[in-house]
Amino acid sequence: MKISKVLGYQVLDSRGRPTVAASISLTDGTTHTARVPSGASTGVHEAKELRDIGGEYSEVFYAGLSVWQAVENINRVIAPCLVEELIDLAAVDNLLVDLDPSADHAKLGANATLAVSLAASIAAAHSQNRSLARYFQPESELNIPMPMVNILSGGAHANEAMDIQDLLIVPIGATSFTQALSWIVAIRETAAELGRMSGFVTNLIADEGGLAIPFDSVEKACQFVINAIEACGLKAGDQVSLALDVASTQFFQNGVYNLRNAKKIFSSEQFVTYINDLVSNYPIVSIEDPFAEDDWITWQKFVQIAPKKLQVLGDDLLTTNLTRLNRAIDEKSANSILIKANQNGLVTSTLNVLKQAKANNFKTVVSARSRENEDSWLADLATGWAAGQIKVGSTHGSERNSKWNRLLELEVIEETKFLNPYI
Ligand code: PGA
Ligand code: ZN
Repeated sequence: MKISKVLGYQVLDSRGRPTVAASISLTDGTTHTARVPSGASTGVHEAKELRDIGGEYSEVFYAGLSVWQAVENINRVIAPCLVEELIDLAAVDNLLVDLDPSADHAKLGANATLAVSLAASIAAAHSQNRSLARYFQPESELNIPMPMVNILSGGAHANEAMDIQDLLIVPIGATSFTQALSWIVAIRETAAELGRMSGFVTNLIADEGGLAIPFDSVEKACQFVINAIEACGLKAGDQVSLALDVASTQFFQNGVYNLRNAKKIFSSEQFVTYINDLVSNYPIVSIEDPFAEDDWITWQKFVQIAPKKLQVLGDDLLTTNLTRLNRAIDEKSANSILIKANQNGLVTSTLNVLKQAKANNFKTVVSARSRENEDSWLADLATGWAAGQIKVGSTHGSERNSKWNRLLELEVIEETKFLNPYI
């Protein structure tokens, strides 16, 4: 089947900011569309999305954040090379690399390349009469990932209500995704009720659908979530564990970790002790970005002393980048990687990062961004790639629930098993 048309255009994300959509039409008359997400706590080593700010395309009404330049790159540069070609994801991604060989996709814009690459995946799956998950794994049972779900938000996602960005739960005792999600919703709603009873506003939500309840210490926030878990009749640690996204790059300044709400400043060495105390005193199974994106030596020191079972997860550290992942493997700086397609810029090279991680016994967590949209391809990628885990935010907001709902759907319509990477 051939490509008959490629169209880029600007749409809005969940925070009302412009983002790129790409539609690929095929010669059978069907059209396949993907929209790209964007981050708020973006790492400096991520692929570069193009924003029009300051340039000739800049629009005052979108505060310069429009993406018309990226859209033009799809319509003027990429589309003419793809029309009349057979639909083939590897060929599309190779072409995108030929057109922009820069490692960070800065010329075309990673938002332009990823939109086309994703639309090509969805169109290629259709041309084989498969779902996107099945396109990546045609045979045998699909692995539905373990969800890691935001309950409390802080940092850049919630006006610094807490110093850390996410306090999440992982339903490690659930035996199906359907059961896992029912526990999560119960805990999320119970947490809201407990927060409301303590006098906080809990019907206004943070960027990823979590609760923005102010806490001046991480310990208090952990205890609050444990209370919510136990109020639901579930056992914290046995059935539902905690996970943190510290997003520490956001508060690493002048060589120190500055927890503004806690009013404490730590050297790298002191912060290793602080983080190690946290994961030892609370039922935390995963800790993301405990140290800043270039504080490699501190990551390495922490891995040496951290509990062996703890997932030490690199997001800003690794930015879904093969070179940075290889360094982390060599130096033992982490033992797991967050996989975000838009940090990388292409579907095939994102998958290559995931494969390299797995080949080196790193766990993998496919992740959404804080600025999302209604698409659900992330659920198919996490499943078809057997990532083991998925992180989407909370269970409020259709840009989040479209992914959870797609996993519920996959669990019903496909032959699946629910992966538990924490056993
Ligand atoms: P971001 O946050 O999408 O704002 O970068 C998500 C995360 O840090 O995991
Ligand atoms: Zn993160």
